[in-house]
Amino acid sequence: MVAANNPNPRGFLLVTTTQLSFGAEIMAMADRLAGWSDAPPGLTCAYLTPAHRATAAQLREWMTAAGMTVHIDAVGNVVGRYPAADPMAKTLITGSHYDTVRNGGRYDGRLGILLPIVAVGALRRSGRRLPFHLEVIGFAEEEGVRFGSTFLGSSAIAGRFDPAALARRDAEGVSMAQAMREAGLDPRAIPALARRPETLLGYLEVHIEQGPVLLDAGLPLGVVTAIAGSSRHLVTIAGEAGHAGTVPMGLRRDAAAAAAELVLHVERRCAAAPTLVGTVGRLGVPEGAINVIPGRAELSLDIRAGDDATRDAAVADVLAEIERIAERRRVEIETVEVLRSPAVPCAPALQDLFAGAIERAGLAVRRLPSGAGHDAVMFNGVTPVGMLFVRCGNGGISHNPCETMTTEDADLAARVFLDALTHLEPKR
Ligand code: HGY
Ligand code: MN
Ligand code: MN
Repeated sequence: MVAANNPNPRGFLLVTTTQLSFGAEIMAMADRLAGWSDAPPGLTCAYLTPAHRATAAQLREWMTAAGMTVHIDAVGNVVGRYPAADPMAKTLITGSHYDTVRNGGRYDGRLGILLPIVAVGALRRSGRRLPFHLEVIGFAEEEGVRFGSTFLGSSAIAGRFDPAALARRDAEGVSMAQAMREAGLDPRAIPALARRPETLLGYLEVHIEQGPVLLDAGLPLGVVTAIAGSSRHLVTIAGEAGHAGTVPMGLRRDAAAAAAELVLHVERRCAAAPTLVGTVGRLGVPEGAINVIPGRAELSLDIRAGDDATRDAAVADVLAEIERIAERRRVEIETVEVLRSPAVPCAPALQDLFAGAIERAGLAVRRLPSGAGHDAVMFNGVTPVGMLFVRCGNGGISHNPCETMTTEDADLAARVFLDALTHLEPKR
């Protein structure tokens, strides 16, 4: 629709078939991938589960059909390459993750893989080569669901994989290294996946917004200015289990009550600055019973902000409060930092690249920060990073099965992405 009104000066978008064909293809592919789940009927796709491996196999098949040479690398990334005519050309990486949160949405991550696959299919059909190699990567893991450590796929490509993660264990006690070997992957080969920065042109990621900003503005697309930094901890509280009927209230060392105090402190402290947010997404009393005072509680802590100073100050205050709660309640509290990721600015030139393509599509350009983390974060300092956001429906809800987007928006995003690719000039 937009492409017809605003033909790309180079004309290649018009080579494609019927209206919304990109969008319809992307939506159908997302629906198909959503059929592989660790816990149907909802969509859960955790690292290296059977559903995850089936998803990877399907992505590989689609990338191959689109005209890419494809392999699955040592960490489980599905890597498709659409080469430039010049073998010495630089490489532009685009992609996102194919794992999901528990009972998540079907577009978070996957959109950023499926849309470029469809785009490459269009390039191939029109016989067009780009002046750079294009790698489309389905990153194996970003959400941290199974092993609690995030960005496994993109960190490997960016040369930031932490080998200590291989010893982490899932809820069944399976180590990450063991899970990889069982999936036919070789953890020893991960360091060699790191790309050399001088061979890269940049990293682009298309992602559903996961919030209401574009929806409220009545705009299908937005240009990301920066990705909020985040800090994550796992917290274990050790009190003393006891009889729920016999121990007087004043003598208890109740781990769950300490956890409750901490949750409320996080909520209060993180309401104190505009972009600051704090979440306790996991909270449990392992093997708790109705008639036993909780001897142990476990929780997670996720604190984010648009700038590092605001986030660091909040984290410091929460950690200090943890000390105070431990002392007052005579419990032991252990905190393990599992992620510290600074706020990442998107490269001005890549912001302008997407802004130009959005303008050529006849739309207003909205620039906005991302409160969610993305694989793009891993490429900060390795190569310039750019992100395109696509409007999220249903009030902007995500990390929820109600996450949705429209075929029209997917279609438009694909056309804008293709237009941006054709306006990206490799530096001499
Ligand atoms: O948690 C995040 O921001 C991302 O969706 N993994
Ligand atoms: Mn997510
Ligand atoms: Mn995501």
